[in-house]
Amino acid sequence: MDVCNTLTFLRCLLYSVMQCVIRTLSTVFTSAFAAKLKSINDDVILITGGGRGLGRKLALHFAKFHPKHIILWGRSKGPLQQTAADVQSLGVSCSFQVCDVSNRDEVNVNFKHVVQSVGNITILVNNAGVVYGKSLLEEADAEIENTFGVNTMAHIWMVKAVLPSMMSNNRGHILCMSSMLGMLGLKSAASYTASKHAVTSFMEGLRHEVANYSGINITVIHPYIIASQMFAGCQVRFPWLFPALSEDYVAERSVNAVLRNEKQILVPRIMHILIFFRSITPIAVLLPLLKFFGVDKTMDTFHQGN
Ligand SMILES: NC(=O)c1ccc[n+]([C@@H]2O[C@H](COP(=O)([O-])OP(=O)(O)OC[C@H]3O[C@@H](n4cnc5c(N)ncnc54)[C@H](OP(=O)(O)O)[C@@H]3O)[C@@H](O)[C@H]2O)c1
Repeated sequence: MDVCNTLTFLRCLLYSVMQCVIRTLSTVFTSAFAAKLKSINDDVILITGGGRGLGRKLALHFAKFHPKHIILWGRSKGPLQQTAADVQSLGVSCSFQVCDVSNRDEVNVNFKHVVQSVGNITILVNNAGVVYGKSLLEEADAEIENTFGVNTMAHIWMVKAVLPSMMSNNRGHILCMSSMLGMLGLKSAASYTASKHAVTSFMEGLRHEVANYSGINITVIHPYIIASQMFAGCQVRFPWLFPALSEDYVAERSVNAVLRNEKQILVPRIMHILIFFRSITPIAVLLPLLKFFGVDKTMDTFHQGN
C-alpha cells in the first residue's frame, strides 16, 4: 500500500470508528433514558396472528396509544372477533380478516382489500408463528413447510406488500417477532429455529435496503420463552433463574420498542450475555454446558398448542 492509500484507509477507518462510537452512545441513551415516545395517532397497524397469544396482547397494548386503526389477521375467526371487540372497547377503530399468512395469494388479495378499506398500512407487525416441537425425522414434510411458510415466507410476502407505499411516502415501521431461537438452536425444534434464523437474517438484509429511507424503521424482537400456548408444557431446568416471560411483559416491551424506534431488542436484556458467550465458546464446551442447564430436555414435555 502506498502512502496515499494508507492515509485514505486510516481516514475511512477513523470515520467508521467515530460513527460506531456515536451510534452506540445514542442507542444506549435512547433505550435507557429517552422518555419521548413517537405518536401513532395517524398510523394504521396490521398485526398478523392478532387474535390470540402475543398478537392479541400487542393489539391491546398498541390500542393504549390510540392509533387510527388496527387490523388483525389470523386463521380463526372467533379469537379475531373477540380481540377486535376488546380493542374497540378501548375506543380504537379495529377490524379483522381471516387470512392464512403462509399463502401468498391470500396475503396479496386480503392486503388489497385492507388498503381499499382503511388506507395504507404504516405499521406492520409480523407476529404469527407456529412450532411443532418434533425431531426432524418425526416432523412431517408439510409441518416443516408450514413452519417456514408462517415463520419466514409470510414475513417476506407481508413486507413486499407494505414496502412500496412505505417507500413512496418515506414513512413506516416494520416489527418482526423473531425469537431467542432466531439466534440459538434447540433440540426438537430444528426447523423452527432455522425459520427464525432465516427471518432474522431477512430483516438484517432489509435494513440495508431501507437504509436511505429516514422515515422507515425496523424493529426485530427476540423474546425468550413466553408463558403462552405456543410452547405449552416445555420446561427449563432452573425456572427461578430463567422464568418464562408473561405475554403482557413482552407485548409492552415490543410496543415501547416501536414507539422509541429501537432496532433490535432481546427480551430480557440479560440474554445479550448468553449470545456473547455463545459466540466465543467452542461448540465442544457449549454442548455439556447447555446440557447442565437442561436445554436438551426443554422440549421433552412440550405439547402442541398451535
Ligand atoms: N411463545 C413463546 O415462547 C415465544 C418465544 C419467542 C418468540 N415467539 C414468537 O412470538 C410470536 C407469537 O407467538 P405466541 O406465543 O403468541 O404463539 P401462539 O399463542 O401459538 O399464537 C400464534 C399466532 O399465530 C397465528 N397463526 C399461526 N399460523 C397462522 C397462519 N398460517 N396464518 C395466520 N395466522 C397464523 C395464530 O392465529 P390462528 O390460530 O387464529 O391462525 C396465533 O394468533 C410467534 O412468531 C412466535 O414464534 C414466541
